Amino acid sequence: MKKLMAANWKMYKLHSEAKDTAEALVKALKGAAPEDREVLIIPPFTALRSVRKAIKKVPGFALGGQNFFPSMQGAYTGEIAPDMLVDMGCSYALAGHSERRHIMGESDEFVGKKVAFGLERGLSMILCVGETIDERKEGKLAEVVRRQMLEGLAGVPADVVPERLTVAYEPVWAIGTGLTAGPREVLDAHALVRSILQEKFGQKAFEMRIQYGGSVKPENASEILSLDNVDGVLVGGSSLSADSFSKIVTA
Ligand code: 13P
Repeated sequence: MKKLMAANWKMYKLHSEAKDTAEALVKALKGAAPEDREVLIIPPFTALRSVRKAIKKVPGFALGGQNFFPSMQGAYTGEIAPDMLVDMGCSYALAGHSERRHIMGESDEFVGKKVAFGLERGLSMILCVGETIDERKEGKLAEVVRRQMLEGLAGVPADVVPERLTVAYEPVWAIGTGLTAGPREVLDAHALVRSILQEKFGQKAFEMRIQYGGSVKPENASEILSLDNVDGVLVGGSSLSADSFSKIVTA
C-alpha cells in the first residue's frame, strides 16, 4: 500500500502561484513520486487546471478537489459537482474537513452524503475526522471519531474498492496551530479508526489508508509516517512550499 502524501492548499494560491509550486515540486522530486508514495495535490478549484497541466504524466502524482456538492448538476449557485472535478482531472476529493464542519457548519449526515456520492461518481474519497480540544479534554475522542466515521461512511457500499476510501485523522486542535499529536496520541487514534473500519468493512479495512493531519512538517514527518496505521499525511501549511512539501514526501 503506497503512502498517500496529500497537500491541501486550502484557500491559498492564485493559479499562477499554484502552477509554479506544482512545477517546483515535480522538479524537487526529480520528475516522479518515490516508489512507495503517492503525491496528491488538492488546490483551490481555480487552480485545478494549472496544477493538472504541471503534474500531467508525472508518475505517482494525482489531483484532488477540496469539496463538492453531492448532486449531478442543478441550481446550486456557488457549488461544484463531482463530475466537474473528474472533468478537471481529479481522482480524489475531501469530505468532512474540520474547517468545513466548523466554519461552514457541515453536519455528519451531509458529509456522509458527499462520501457516498463522490464514490458513486468515480472519485476516491478522503473522509476527515477529528476531535476538538474540548472534546478531547472531556474524554470524548472515541465517541466523536466513531460518530463522524459511522455517519460519514453510512452510504458506502460494502463492496467498495478499499483503495478508494481513505480516512484522515486530523485532531482539530493540531490544525494550523503548530501543535502536533504525539506518537501515543496518533497511535491510539489511528488504531481506533482502523477498528471502526474493520467493524464496518471486515478484512478490507486493512487495505484502506488512514492519514494523519495537523501541523505535519519536514521535522516531524518521518516519525509520524513510521507509526503503525499511518498510511500517509494530509498537510496544510507545510505543503504550500515545494521545498518543505518535497521534504515531507521523501521523509
Ligand atoms: P496544517 O498542516 O496547516 O496544520 O493543516 C492540516 C490540515 O488541515 C490539512 O487538511
